[in-house]
Amino acid sequence: MIRVLGIETSCDETAASVVALEGDAAPKILSNVVLSQIEEHAAFGGVVPEIAARAHVEALDGIVEAALADSGVALADIDAIAATAGPGLVGGLIVGLMTAKAIAAAAGKPLIAVNHLEGHALTARLTEGLAFPYLLLLVSGGHTQIVAVRGVGDYQRWATTIDDALGEAFDKTAKMLGLPYPGGPNVEKAALSGEASRFAFPRPMKGSAQPDFSFSGLKTAVRQAATAIEPLSDQDVADICASFQMAVADSLADRVSRALARFRETFPGTENPALVVAGGVAANRAIKARLELLCAEAGFTFVAPPLKLCTDNAAMIAWAGIERLREGMAQENGFDFAPRSRWPLDSVSAPMVGSGRRGAKA
Ligand code: KG4
Ligand code: ZN
Repeated sequence: MIRVLGIETSCDETAASVVALEGDAAPKILSNVVLSQIEEHAAFGGVVPEIAARAHVEALDGIVEAALADSGVALADIDAIAATAGPGLVGGLIVGLMTAKAIAAAAGKPLIAVNHLEGHALTARLTEGLAFPYLLLLVSGGHTQIVAVRGVGDYQRWATTIDDALGEAFDKTAKMLGLPYPGGPNVEKAALSGEASRFAFPRPMKGSAQPDFSFSGLKTAVRQAATAIEPLSDQDVADICASFQMAVADSLADRVSRALARFRETFPGTENPALVVAGGVAANRAIKARLELLCAEAGFTFVAPPLKLCTDNAAMIAWAGIERLREGMAQENGFDFAPRSRWPLDSVSAPMVGSGRRGAKA
């Protein structure tokens, strides 16, 4: 039996969780406590790093206590502490990693420094027991990536955004149209009563051989369309949202379909090829439906873990810790590990200009 306490503080969620694995049985999430700071940042229309770091300091002790209490496991019976060490906002990372080190040192437990993106990448193995290799589409407020997940610690980034992250594009579009933060859910809601064919927005990168993403041109097109018809009625806003969402879905479908083809070529023997989605944008029903259809056509299983495990949480960090322990891949001494605001999953691919530029969310 392996039981790991996970801690996540890389952006605007303060989270702690205990996950257990016993023999060949499915892993169990014994507790999963997430405190969102959305209200603290809403007035600013985005995450303010200093506010986030302070909020983590205030909340983390209580969140860890609650996660241990909910799990029914005493700290003495925990095998290791796993904490997000990057990438993300450095203030939050320092709070989480230092707290984890203090708990681990006081309790005499090993400390595992986890890459937040690895947490997202391995979640489908926690929830569905998915076998390697598979393809991951990570679409959140800070990252837009396609990653071939070949094994624990073995990732190939096949695509990233050359400018804005997709969640960021939703948030900026919402802001332009006067919709509240966070923008994604509000754009989706407005789009329900809109006419998607009213505005012919560009489909960024469509047709390009590399599966990379770009959203800043689309954002500019939205701004120009909105400015041209000001003042905007509710119907105008709904139509812009619907047209924007359709352009995003088209662009994603084109990019992902190239990655699915590449997956077939790269891993020809894979019996049940799967596409996993993660990140807050995976909540969007229109996008999800589009990807589901694409997968059905291409013979891929579409895997969307429960939303609370797709967005930032500590169960994925605890699980990544378990996977590393099991493979003998945890750092020998995690206490030496310093927080990294930038920490690509795949050290082989060339860094992209826009990749993780905001550095905040992953
Ligand atoms: O994964 P997440 O909760 O946090 C990190 O970025 O780490 O993702 C948040 C992002 C925000 O940009 C938010 O606007 C977007 O996900 N989002 C959505 C939806 N729900 C959240 N975007 C589109 N449609 C949604 N329904
Ligand atoms: Zn994340």
